[in-house]
Amino acid sequence: MTRPAAPRRIAASWLRALPKAELHLHLEGTVSPETLVELSQRHDDEGLTLTEARSLYHYTDFTGFLLAFKAVSERLRTPEDYELITFRMLERLAAQGVVHAEAYVSVGVVYYWRRIEFESLFHGMEAARVRAEQQFGITLYWIFDAVRHFGPEEAARVFRKAAELRPAFPSILGIGIGGDERRAGAEPFRELFQEAQDAGLRLTAHAGETMGPESIWAALNIGAERIGHGLSAQLDADLMEVLAERQIPLEICITSNLRTGCCPTLEEHPVRRYFDAGLMVTLNSDDPAMFESDLQDEYRLAHDSFGFTGEHLRELAANSIEASFLPATRKVALLHQIEQVK
Ligand code: ADE
Ligand code: ZN
Repeated sequence: MTRPAAPRRIAASWLRALPKAELHLHLEGTVSPETLVELSQRHDDEGLTLTEARSLYHYTDFTGFLLAFKAVSERLRTPEDYELITFRMLERLAAQGVVHAEAYVSVGVVYYWRRIEFESLFHGMEAARVRAEQQFGITLYWIFDAVRHFGPEEAARVFRKAAELRPAFPSILGIGIGGDERRAGAEPFRELFQEAQDAGLRLTAHAGETMGPESIWAALNIGAERIGHGLSAQLDADLMEVLAERQIPLEICITSNLRTGCCPTLEEHPVRRYFDAGLMVTLNSDDPAMFESDLQDEYRLAHDSFGFTGEHLRELAANSIEASFLPATRKVALLHQIEQVK
């Protein structure tokens, strides 16, 4: 890979000090095998061993990854479980200098596979959110994620629950579609996206992770404001132009793409090309416990393997704030803090 001249090595303390937002993170994908063991001891007559828990995280391709995600999600049961995993997620984020996160929660998985009501689980998540904000100063918005290959009817239940709960819980900021693009495009979700937007919810979509640029076009066409992954945009010059012109934020997740096999090698990852083409790139960790990485690692990887300098990383951190759904006043304050980091 041709790279710019090697930049000065960035200190971990500097990366940590840089205020950052994490915009593409699945709550369930932050649960470590150790936490699963702890939860299993709460619920099961014969608790999972750490080896058994770790074996749930093994996969060799994207389909296997989705199954692993489901296996972990299915072991989350009570409001107290959701409280614990939310608190741990926020504790780890705060330790990396993340000042704000917008986390997906797979409400679609809860409804479809577990057939239980989500609301009481959400109360646990909220309790942890409030406690972590008091303790660490980190803020969190929730994005209710539907599983696209379960179809629009299931997604409707997810999005309508977000709209129903939002007046009482303003931390619910948006909705999204995750899951397997190869089995479901974005178009069937058009009306539901409109309905969600009318309810004041912000719109996101995973797109161009396992499918071509047509999947990203479809997500944009139904109103997605941010694109999760967007790997295949590189194959379509017109799309690249539109993404640059409209400054559509891309939630880039480099390690995730490598681990799921969606991007075969590090050298082929388009993150640097996107940045150089003026696209609105943000770095994210997706499912850190399943990829053995975290957001700080993603910034480190961008520096070490793609030649992003300290000033570039500062720009990526600023992008994460600008692309967030935070109010303008907080964005301005955080952008100012980013400029001040020495
Ligand atoms: N759910 C959790 N992580 C995901 C990903 N990377 N793509 C689609 N669905 C997901
Ligand atoms: Zn994701």
